[in-house]
Amino acid sequence: MAEKVIINYKGKEYDLPIITGSEDEKAIDISSLRKDTGLVTLDRGFKNTGSVTSNITFLNGEEGILRYRGYPIEDLAEKSTFLEVSYLLIYGNLPNEIELSKFTNDISSHTLVHEDVKSILDGFPSKSHPMGVLSSLVSSLTAFYPKSLDPNRSKEEINGTIIRALAKLPTLAAWSYKNRMRQPVVYPDNSLNYCENFIRMMFSLPTVGYEVNPVVAKALDKLLILHADHEQNCSTSTVRMVGSSHASLYTSVSSGIAALWGPLHGGANQAVIEMLENIRESGGDIGIFIDKAKDKNDPFRLMGFGHRVYKSFDPRATIIKKAADDVLSQLGINDPVLEIAMKLEKVALNDDYFISRGLYPNVDFYSGIIYRAIGVPKDMFTVMFALGRLPGWISQWKEMRENHDPIGRPRQIYTGPTLRTYTDINNR
Ligand code: CMC
Repeated sequence: MAEKVIINYKGKEYDLPIITGSEDEKAIDISSLRKDTGLVTLDRGFKNTGSVTSNITFLNGEEGILRYRGYPIEDLAEKSTFLEVSYLLIYGNLPNEIELSKFTNDISSHTLVHEDVKSILDGFPSKSHPMGVLSSLVSSLTAFYPKSLDPNRSKEEINGTIIRALAKLPTLAAWSYKNRMRQPVVYPDNSLNYCENFIRMMFSLPTVGYEVNPVVAKALDKLLILHADHEQNCSTSTVRMVGSSHASLYTSVSSGIAALWGPLHGGANQAVIEMLENIRESGGDIGIFIDKAKDKNDPFRLMGFGHRVYKSFDPRATIIKKAADDVLSQLGINDPVLEIAMKLEKVALNDDYFISRGLYPNVDFYSGIIYRAIGVPKDMFTVMFALGRLPGWISQWKEMRENHDPIGRPRQIYTGPTLRTYTDINNR
């Protein structure tokens, strides 16, 4: 017999069917709730609410499992490349050699951005945070590719929009950094792979020779894989929500970048390093910061700790911690901040406050240490996250369009004043 939940409201019973996912995840289907009962549900922060059905990413927070299209993140991080993972997320299967070669070539031939982008870039003050610049530049792509505004175009045209997004984001990201540094931009070199090309555009100067360090390129590729998708997180839900109004891919991704920027989401990687530096500069007493994090009257939180879904461990953090160790030793760097991070992790993992709340290091706790080691400045950390998350945003946007999902429009429970009588300004 089909499983169901029965609710009893005002003496009448209503059957609500149970939906079961492919990993046996269960949800109560409340689609007919309002029509049948007049009720809506209230779930602040969507802590218990599934907004979509999706074939892309499986995440089990209790057991620390993350899989893209069925493949464990551990295998992908070790054996795959970021472009292979991007293909997997966007098209559903791992590419064969011909498919990957075409995908790679298509991306390589669209890395250049219109010269007018430079004029837009010049308009930003050098103090601009690169995330704000990146979000604006991605949105500006609609001006250069007006046909992309219509998400109902042919499959081939939509694919062209997708390829352009993947191809141009590294260029726009590197240029947002060049603006920050008030340095001339460096054009893409399509003989290099995805990460090498980005690193060169970011760190080199147009007239000076530059060789990309393969250790750095490999570390970046792994970080991008680890960030590539994470099902219905804040920025991805934003991309889907904006896209659900039939806004273009570029507009939706631009909104996703804005959502990612906040310190509770992607911005945590910058906040973690700032916190670790702060601990170091203030004498290295970890206890003070642990106490502050536990104090309900203090807004301070241990950045890089805790996750809405992972309550035992974040599998990405396990991989990143090892990668941070490897990269630092391969580059011969001894970063005192890594030592503080490890000490902090140890203290927190033995403290009942963190244990009882299921607060463990998340993906961002160690990613900043790798970015620091490879020379990425702090305010570019979240830009790196955006580069990684792009194929996830694209695949979720594409799935939403292909599933013909309706416009996202939550309900609310109104708690403001009831009907009031308007009074003239002289009588107030
Ligand atoms: N430090 C101290 N206390 C914390 C922390 C923290 N980092 N995170 C959660 N708590 C406490 C919180 O005060 C609450 O305690 P109580 O039950 O006594 O009120 C309890 O743990 C549950 O927290 P919550 O805020 O209800 O949990 P949430 O699921 O709404 O928030 C989170 C998840 C990631 C926003 C939160 O853990 C946090 O702010 N962490 C620090 C920021 C961070 O590292 N964000 C990156 C997340 S991973 C990258 C990404 O995908 O975005």
